[in-house]
Amino acid sequence: MSEKKMMHVLPLEAYTSQAWFDREQEMIFSKTWAYAGFAEDISEPGQYISVQAGLNNIFIVMGRDRRLRAFHNICRHRGTQLIRAVGKAQKALTCPYHDWTYDLEGNLISVPEEQSEFKDLDKSCLGLKKASVDMWRGMLFVHPNPDAGSIMEWFGEVEPHLGPHNIEELVEYPDARVEYEIKANWKIVVENYIDVYHLAHLHSGTLAMYDHAKAEYGFFGPHYAFWEPLSEDYAKDIEKNAPTPLVLPLDQLGASVPMLFPGIGLAESESNWATFIITPLGPQLSRVENRVRLKNASEWEFQKQQWRSASFWSKSIKGKYSPEAAEHDDDPMASGDFTAEDIYACEQQQKSLKSPYFEVGASAQNGESPVRQHQQVVLDFVEGRYL
Ligand code: FES
Ligand SMILES: [Fe+2]
Repeated sequence: MSEKKMMHVLPLEAYTSQAWFDREQEMIFSKTWAYAGFAEDISEPGQYISVQAGLNNIFIVMGRDRRLRAFHNICRHRGTQLIRAVGKAQKALTCPYHDWTYDLEGNLISVPEEQSEFKDLDKSCLGLKKASVDMWRGMLFVHPNPDAGSIMEWFGEVEPHLGPHNIEELVEYPDARVEYEIKANWKIVVENYIDVYHLAHLHSGTLAMYDHAKAEYGFFGPHYAFWEPLSEDYAKDIEKNAPTPLVLPLDQLGASVPMLFPGIGLAESESNWATFIITPLGPQLSRVENRVRLKNASEWEFQKQQWRSASFWSKSIKGKYSPEAAEHDDDPMASGDFTAEDIYACEQQQKSLKSPYFEVGASAQNGESPVRQHQQVVLDFVEGRYL
């Protein structure tokens, strides 16, 4: 491979090849904490959610003692996945294949035809394999390793650099929950999220309420933190401009937009708190899941506020964003939606990567330094240097 084909730190293949995708699944997504959902997604015994963490499918279930436990979603008989997606179990978990049944604490409690078919079977050795589960900033995370330790060992270093939001006091706004696919490698989507250089250009018409020149950003371990204040003009008029009730004190107005490793984006602004979870689906396809928390205001207050526009995720909050519409729009750049602008930029960039004429001309010293640093983190993980 010639120098010219290098995209900053990573080779071009890192963004296009199945081999790189597979290696990242093994070395990154199977060895780090994976976002699984919001704390309130599991609120009663027997309720569960499952999540793909690299090569591992893991589910979290609440036991009869109301404790959360995580298990590998693999039946101990011949490995069939026990449960699917999200749901409320009965009192036990039964494998669909031969009805081996486990209690909510992962113990194997019943095997059909045990006496005739499995003489001397020691059921106590065939409980579900444990994984780790932990809660942080109102979110649930799982780790394939049962001895992963506390999540604070993973996020502790970056936590002081995140928004001062009191997440427990915010409530989810369900209408803002969206999921969509982007035809680009997950790292293209991450790089777009942490590219400071593009803010004043791609989003000149949509994110002008923030003062990009005052942005503060950097890496803490593998995690990226970013903060910028509202522009003075916008802040002056904040009570009128904010699309929803403020969630930050007046002297701390702005947006904290961290990208936690790997692909766990947050957008913690003056008017809401949102997640931007990127899941790699293939070398050139990613899924993004957005959920939004707002101040617990009355229905009336939401109605009153909703017509106002122009703040973080405002299009999503109003339920107007639709990837299909963006795709068929003649000009996504005229949509007035910064998310549509980002998706458009990511997909247009991915399209060029297979051209023999593609090369990176130059990389901005400051505004694109997070892009290069993220690539270095990815490289360190893939080559086994990080953990
Ligand atoms: S594979 Fe689960 S019961 Fe046979
Ligand atoms: Fe952007």
